[in-house]
Amino acid sequence: MSLLFTPFSLGPVELPNRIVVSPMCQYSANDGAAGDWHLQHLMQYGYCGAGLVMVEATGVERRGRITHGCLGLYSDDCETALARTMSAVRRVSGSTRFGIQLAHAGRKASASIPWIRGGAPLGKGEDPWETVAPSPVPFGPGWHTPEELDEKGMERIVEAFVEAARRAARAGFDVVEVHAAHGYLLHEFLSPLSNFRQGPFGGSLENRMRFPLQVAKAVRAAVPREVVVGARITGTDWGDKGFTPEDAVVFAGRLKEIGLKYVCVSSGGILPSIRVPSSPGYNVPLAAKVKKATGIAVRAVGMIVTPDQAEEIVASESADLVCMARAFLDNPRWVWHAAEALGADAHYPRQYERARRSSWPGAELVRPRRP
Ligand SMILES: Cc1cc2nc3c(=O)[nH]c(=O)nc-3n(C[C@H](O)[C@H](O)[C@H](O)COP(=O)(O)O)c2cc1C
Repeated sequence: MSLLFTPFSLGPVELPNRIVVSPMCQYSANDGAAGDWHLQHLMQYGYCGAGLVMVEATGVERRGRITHGCLGLYSDDCETALARTMSAVRRVSGSTRFGIQLAHAGRKASASIPWIRGGAPLGKGEDPWETVAPSPVPFGPGWHTPEELDEKGMERIVEAFVEAARRAARAGFDVVEVHAAHGYLLHEFLSPLSNFRQGPFGGSLENRMRFPLQVAKAVRAAVPREVVVGARITGTDWGDKGFTPEDAVVFAGRLKEIGLKYVCVSSGGILPSIRVPSSPGYNVPLAAKVKKATGIAVRAVGMIVTPDQAEEIVASESADLVCMARAFLDNPRWVWHAAEALGADAHYPRQYERARRSSWPGAELVRPRRP
């Protein structure tokens, strides 16, 4: 029997299976507001049969977006557009649940859309904006020098996370995820490679965790108990003197104590000079370590592509959930094909039922097995 296709209780939220569509920036919003692209993008994942679909990194304030095209939840217009999109998506979905990743890009904000100028920092004439970070040190050569946040500025960002979380709950999301990975603001506080502060928010791990934990706690308190709050964390910076897997264990344990129900263990992104050793399932050992040490529910991500690989991660108890990004971009029908491959069942819209292999005699003659 497939464990990947067994239900999972994420606190009060019941997921029909362990498969998660990873948050993926679409760079297609208009001043933070979702439009037609988001509607079609989220519609196809709405009925894809995954247990949970995560909406992309969503800026809690305008300057916290990565690019001019990033989604936001910092205005009534953003909230109205996303609520409208999600109510349409829910109308075509089965038991799939929906989450949103709340983010602040910190010193990696004010960047170009990848297909316009490869994600490089915005230049003059491209409407760049002032960025903020724990320390006034740019991400890399050519990047904006961020303003060092003072405590008033940090309080305003906590408030922005709270406001965005309330907006997300009103829009009907089941899960709110705090983005504390990939070199964005909260990770910048956590990592000794980007946080050079003195005082209560710099130095020891305890101090570096202080602001991300304040944000997580405030988000948890801002939404009703039936909304699950989790976080995407970094399992390692992969760099000398960076954030370590042992630090990730401590951080995840503290998130659990304040009521977060899961962590998604990713890695990398703190400095452009550090290469992530990406290979199949490269973050899985990090996820397994966090799960074993803390007992919090853990989602694994990173180069998970085949049904057998996903099944093995869950069956070996390395993680409770598996999360995929590029595999789902490549094949939004991944879940249906994985269910066929593993002899399991998944939500199939009735309108498409006749394409299910079992109701299509001779399918194997014309359709190769995927993925
Ligand atoms: C197009 C694209 C957009 C992404 N946007 C986000 C994002 O909004 N938030 C995030 O945490 N990770 C983002 N990522 C990273 C993915 O969620 C995932 O962690 C990474 O791609 C590794 O998983 P994969 O090997 O299954 O693609 C993005 C990845 C892709 C390919």
